[in-house]
Amino acid sequence: MVYTPQNILITGGCGFIGSNFIRYLLGNYNQITVVNVDKLTYAGNILSLKDISERYENRYFFYKEDITNSDSIFKIMERHNIDTIVNFAAESHVDRSILNPEIFLTTNTLGTLRLLEVARNFWGNDNNVRFHHISTDEVYGSLKDHGKFLESSCYKPSSPYSASKAGADHFVYSYYKTFNLPVTITNSSNNYGPYQFPEKLIPLTIINCLNHKNIPIYGKGENIRNWLFVEDHCEGIDLVIRRGKVGESYNIASNDELKNINLVRRICKILDEIKPSKKVKSYSELISFVEDRPGHDYRYALSFDKVKKLGWTPKTSMKKGLQKTVLWYVENENWWKSILNQEYIEFYKKWYGGKNQGE
Ligand code: NAD
Ligand code: TYD
Repeated sequence: MVYTPQNILITGGCGFIGSNFIRYLLGNYNQITVVNVDKLTYAGNILSLKDISERYENRYFFYKEDITNSDSIFKIMERHNIDTIVNFAAESHVDRSILNPEIFLTTNTLGTLRLLEVARNFWGNDNNVRFHHISTDEVYGSLKDHGKFLESSCYKPSSPYSASKAGADHFVYSYYKTFNLPVTITNSSNNYGPYQFPEKLIPLTIINCLNHKNIPIYGKGENIRNWLFVEDHCEGIDLVIRRGKVGESYNIASNDELKNINLVRRICKILDEIKPSKKVKSYSELISFVEDRPGHDYRYALSFDKVKKLGWTPKTSMKKGLQKTVLWYVENENWWKSILNQEYIEFYKKWYGGKNQGE
């Protein structure tokens, strides 16, 4: 049976993937109303949807609100007759979860539980509704050189971030089993693309190159990640909401696996071509090996055969996706320059124990 969402509540819509998903929904469906609830933490950026709020003023609504604030969320659901929740809101950076774990429990786990409870109260026994939860491959833990995680793999999270996401996933499933809430979950691999906060490896590398700052590589740069272009991810989420089986989870990923050092070298090479530096011969001269991240997962890789059976496959090659992403950051300095503020500087001071990045 195909489910058709109409009035969708997106949480964390001012973040990286949420803003891309809102753009995707409003661009592809004429009948949908999107309500975006975002607390606007350091990672939320109202600028990411400025054009959208102007273009779709009758179908796009924004509320600055915390997902743990159940009363407000309930009222918003009532006001807009919400039939579908897509829960992106989270603290999403592993390094920050090492410095300050508690907010990860509060937003990622408690926040998800509170949303589930609001949804259950608001929807009652209505089955023609959907709670879709966005999760990560990191809940499965780390792999050695071979094999991929399946949806049936055991959860073995390594970081406070992945532990908080794992807890949330379990609560979502428990609401399906215990209360019959119609839920679906997607676990995706590392995303990249426009509007990603420059604390994650790809945008951090691009921005540090453009600012002629060191590119910090943890350990030897041999850790492997499974990269997915964000627009492909959005298409996958939409498909699972419409065609996924209630109570099931689906992995979403690509076959692109890269060692961090090779990924960073590729980014440097693209920038050498499209925006050659006047200070260094190649941006790769900025690479600096720094102390490893504590508990650093060696490799993530997902099997995505299950979502393929629903009709999804990634369309964007890593070559094309990286080119597009690098170009976007080169052309959108206004978007990322405003982020490099005091809070941003303070985080890196703390993370590097008072030293600059990569020193
Ligand atoms: P992000 O950090 O860019 O955005 C998170 C958004 O959530 C921000 O706009 C922030 O303001 C908002 N937010 C934080 N706490 C909130 C709260 N208490 N109430 C309301 N809003 C709040 O994150 P992202 O990279 O877009 O990730 C989105 C989701 O996808 C997360 O659940 C993350 O775990 C998951 N995910 C991310 C990746 C990835 O590679 N980025 C991969 C797999 C899964
Ligand atoms: P990140 O983008 O933080 O995503 P995640 O940890 O959720 O996979 O990191 C991607 C990889 O890059 C990971 O192996 C850690 C590594 N990394 C660095 O080497 N240097 C950095 O400055 C950052 C932020 C990450």
